[in-house]
Amino acid sequence: YLLGLDIGTSGIKAILISVEGRIVSTKTKSYPLTIPNSGWAEQFPEHWWEATKDVIKEIISESSIEAGQIKGLSLSGQMHSSVFLDDEMNVIRPAILWSDTRTSEECEEIYEKVGGLSHLIDYVSNPALEGFTAPKILWLRKNEPENYEKIKYVLLPKDYIRYKLTGEVFTENSDAAGTLLFDVIEKKWSSSLLTQLGIDGDILPPVLNSVDIAGRITESVAKETNLKIGTPVIAGGADNACGAVGSGIIKEGRVMVSIGSSGVVLAQANTPVADRKGRIHLFNHALTDSWYMMGVMLSAGMSFKWLKEKLYGNKIDYDKLTQLAGEVEPGSEGLIFLPYLYGERTPHADANARGVYFGISGKHDQRHFVRSLLEGVSFGLKDSLELIKEQGVKIKEVRAIGGGAKSKVWQQILADVLGEEINLLNVEEGPAFGAALIAGVGIGEYASFEEAVNEIIKVRETISPIPKNIEYYNSYYQLFRQIYFSLKDDFK
Ligand code: XUL
Repeated sequence: YLLGLDIGTSGIKAILISVEGRIVSTKTKSYPLTIPNSGWAEQFPEHWWEATKDVIKEIISESSIEAGQIKGLSLSGQMHSSVFLDDEMNVIRPAILWSDTRTSEECEEIYEKVGGLSHLIDYVSNPALEGFTAPKILWLRKNEPENYEKIKYVLLPKDYIRYKLTGEVFTENSDAAGTLLFDVIEKKWSSSLLTQLGIDGDILPPVLNSVDIAGRITESVAKETNLKIGTPVIAGGADNACGAVGSGIIKEGRVMVSIGSSGVVLAQANTPVADRKGRIHLFNHALTDSWYMMGVMLSAGMSFKWLKEKLYGNKIDYDKLTQLAGEVEPGSEGLIFLPYLYGERTPHADANARGVYFGISGKHDQRHFVRSLLEGVSFGLKDSLELIKEQGVKIKEVRAIGGGAKSKVWQQILADVLGEEINLLNVEEGPAFGAALIAGVGIGEYASFEEAVNEIIKVRETISPIPKNIEYYNSYYQLFRQIYFSLKDDFK
């Protein structure tokens, strides 16, 4: 058996699979997110660790297997979030999360120090965005110097949990890539950038490949979790890299569209090409010497959740809402939604942007508001897909995953808006499943990622776009874009 853990934002997910890819058991446990100030988002790494031990214990006891039958485990985790540790490896302050936007000034500072976007892209292939790790380190230096002085290491969430499991301090390429301090092409910390920012490279952990054995379960952890002492712990990867593995995005031309809280469009790339305008990200994949391009929307499923909770007071469930959306014609009779409730990352990199319903008229009722929200999120995903195509990627297959991709109505809207066939998969367990497969490759149960993916992950259904809707949505998409650019300066 193989165990995959995903240290997510809303909670941890553990999945136990057989080597043949059969899901034996899954367990989730949530933990709180604190918002000490508007735009901030923090979590206590101690909560992740307690939840990790709990889910491992529970999954072992409920699956009625011997701990020794788990041959290896690996980890996936939320990207960019910073865990600050002191000399004793104690957490100095709560972790500052990927969704925290307090660091706009620090992003400016980075551009000033390196001499603009083009230089930064030369160093790390990505732009300075509030969510990334480097600006969080600079924020700490400026705002909490006493905490900054104490730093021994800055770790990513799953690297911290791996340290707790094994006692060894490492990161790996795919998560290092999201720090904005890593040369993703050369696969090493960017010493030039570190020098220019005045950050001591010793606070960053050594970097492994995702499939490397990073350590083994220690005696005390074995006692606390019922895992077998010495079980190999494989380095693992960033949640998006693991999600890509878990949906078989291991070949050029395959694209993943994920509608979770955030929205992600991700394409594997054999050669690393950075967007010189910094609109999409270029990060290392969990496959060795492989990369991916990615666009991230901050509120995809999150917008839908907002509508359900705040506009409908939780009185209607998601199924009923999408059913209502299905009663209205494509285009929602001219009602257009901009899904920027908490600002947007791709394509606008604009923390000040906000949501908009445009074109409300007397003929619109509740159903139009639901449908136009699903369409607006799909237009946002199309923005990322178009940017990926602009980088020269030839799209051969689009696979949709995540909660949003479970609705028939939304699947069809997505196919029509993107103008692509959408494939749905037999397994939809996301990053934790990908982590379990990485564990399997790491301990040699699978000869390669290809072997694991080809045997285990299958397309179960294809949704084809409807030609007349493609046309229709193309003109709405132009309007969707124009509305943002018209309002952009007023969001400030
Ligand atoms: C990716 C990103 C999010 C987090 C979610 O750049 O910020 O998708 O990884 O955990």
